[in-house]
Amino acid sequence: MSDHYFSSQPASKESPREIHVSILGEDYRVKTTSGIFSPHGIDKGTAVLLHKAPLPELDPGSTIVDLGCGWGPLTLALASQYPDSHVTGVDVNERTLALTTENAATAGLANVTVVDATEESAAAITDIDLLWSNPPIRIGKQALHELLTTWLGRLAPTGVAYLVVQRNLGSDSLAGWLTDHGFPTSKLGSQKGFRVLEVRRAH
Ligand SMILES: C[S@@+](CC[C@H](N)C(=O)[O-])C[C@H]1O[C@@H](n2cnc3c(N)ncnc32)[C@H](O)[C@@H]1O
Repeated sequence: MSDHYFSSQPASKESPREIHVSILGEDYRVKTTSGIFSPHGIDKGTAVLLHKAPLPELDPGSTIVDLGCGWGPLTLALASQYPDSHVTGVDVNERTLALTTENAATAGLANVTVVDATEESAAAITDIDLLWSNPPIRIGKQALHELLTTWLGRLAPTGVAYLVVQRNLGSDSLAGWLTDHGFPTSKLGSQKGFRVLEVRRAH
């Protein structure tokens, strides 16, 4: 069985570890393991998203999604920044689903739910006000396009998404493709070879 970070059941033996990370100025003790994305700390692209993405004002009770949550750095950041809203971390890798659940609980963040993207409950998440994602580029262009159009199509009419994509993995062509497919996308900024894209739904 192949053992990509995006396998639903990674084949590699688990190697649980605890790391300390700082996310948007807050310190967290989190668990990670092998067979997942960036187990040693905050990924460079994720760091760029955290640095560049604005934190729009949201009404209490807003719906926030972290698409492809991994061990949960973006879920933790969003849940902490928006304590009156609900954050759903979505992934397909069963190890990440367990880790994000545990890491949010350890951080005392009660406004987090973690959902398997392949389950029906994921499709029930609609009217998303804010979506953040360091998307799984390595699943391939067609699968990525399908994943993004599915979730961006669940944005509320006034919703907004911020994605981080490596420039040499096609951030600019992805921005053009999204714009052409009903999701006007602008390039918000770039740093260290990563581009942050702001995506909305066409009206
Ligand atoms: C680039 S990693 C980002 C992880 C985490 N957000 C971070 O910043 O460290 C992308 C994540 O997307 C997940 N993923 C892959 N296919 C997916 C799908 N169809 N739906 C949701 N998540 C998926 C992968 O398992 C992986 O955890």
